[in-house]
Amino acid sequence: MPGDLHRLLLTWYRRHQRKLPWRGEADPYRILLSEVLLQQTQVEQAIPYYRRFLQQFPTLAALAQADLEAVLRAWQGCGYYARARHLHRLAQQVTALPRSYAELRALPGIGPYTAAAVASIAFGEPVAAVDGNVRRVLSRLYAWENPTPKALQAAADALMAGLLGSGARPGDWNQALMELGATVCTPQNPGCGGCPLAGFCRGKAHPERYPAPRRRQQKNLEVAALVLQGPGGIFLEQRRGRVLGGLWGVPMEEGPGALERLLARFGLETAEPVGALRHDFTHRKLSIRVYRAPWAAQENPAHRPLSRLDRKILELVEAKSQRLL
Ligand code: ADE
Repeated sequence: MPGDLHRLLLTWYRRHQRKLPWRGEADPYRILLSEVLLQQTQVEQAIPYYRRFLQQFPTLAALAQADLEAVLRAWQGCGYYARARHLHRLAQQVTALPRSYAELRALPGIGPYTAAAVASIAFGEPVAAVDGNVRRVLSRLYAWENPTPKALQAAADALMAGLLGSGARPGDWNQALMELGATVCTPQNPGCGGCPLAGFCRGKAHPERYPAPRRRQQKNLEVAALVLQGPGGIFLEQRRGRVLGGLWGVPMEEGPGALERLLARFGLETAEPVGALRHDFTHRKLSIRVYRAPWAAQENPAHRPLSRLDRKILELVEAKSQRLL
């Protein structure tokens, strides 16, 4: 029998888990997709993406055969596009998902969390998955302000070991911890009164102290964006780099002399200022000055995968001129 702590959390999970489209799912591909989406996207936002993605790419084989651009379009607006690029590459590498943590971990884009989540939920392997929610739950449970990833993994492994032999499913245990973090042991105003682990929690008197907030290093970046407008569309180019690579967007340059470099690239003397906007990525805060100029080349933005940033730029220009989107 597992101890009280395990029994209480699993009973709570059985009763209080949210109904989500991937709950009870047996298809490893679907489980993988849900876990990849949920790593950087809130549940409410992830659900429509999950459904739409599966409608378009119902199996690993269907995903393998798709164009990367179609995959990125299905992901458009969801952010962290490397996730979509990696899923596509993974689908081209394997015809079926391997069943073990170690083999999953070796696939493109699959980190320790995703490998553990899929191995436990889809294949029942007793490996502990530590995401941001589990980090918060464990930090409070043990009153740790700044636990290292190693300490957290060790604590999660020890809890998973306590489950063994009970007949309980490792995937349920991992999801119960995550679910507790998502719905009860929340960053602000945790619901300790309704927490099944309150009796074991060393941080309960001051949950807000655990874990200590992580300071995020965000760099400010000045960017110029150029919207080149023709009669039937605009000029788009394919982006490179880790963040938005593979998507399409309007020409942009960053740092001092950004506008001048943009103009030089297109042999233009001037461009009309349209306005300014801000956009935050995880490690960068962008201030974007938007310009426009007439241009002959045309592309209908509806046919290309665009980032949210590019949509914001086009909406700004649209508000001041003709329809672009
Ligand atoms: N967050 C990420 N994956 C989750 C899951 N399977 N259940 C609950 N929360 C999650």
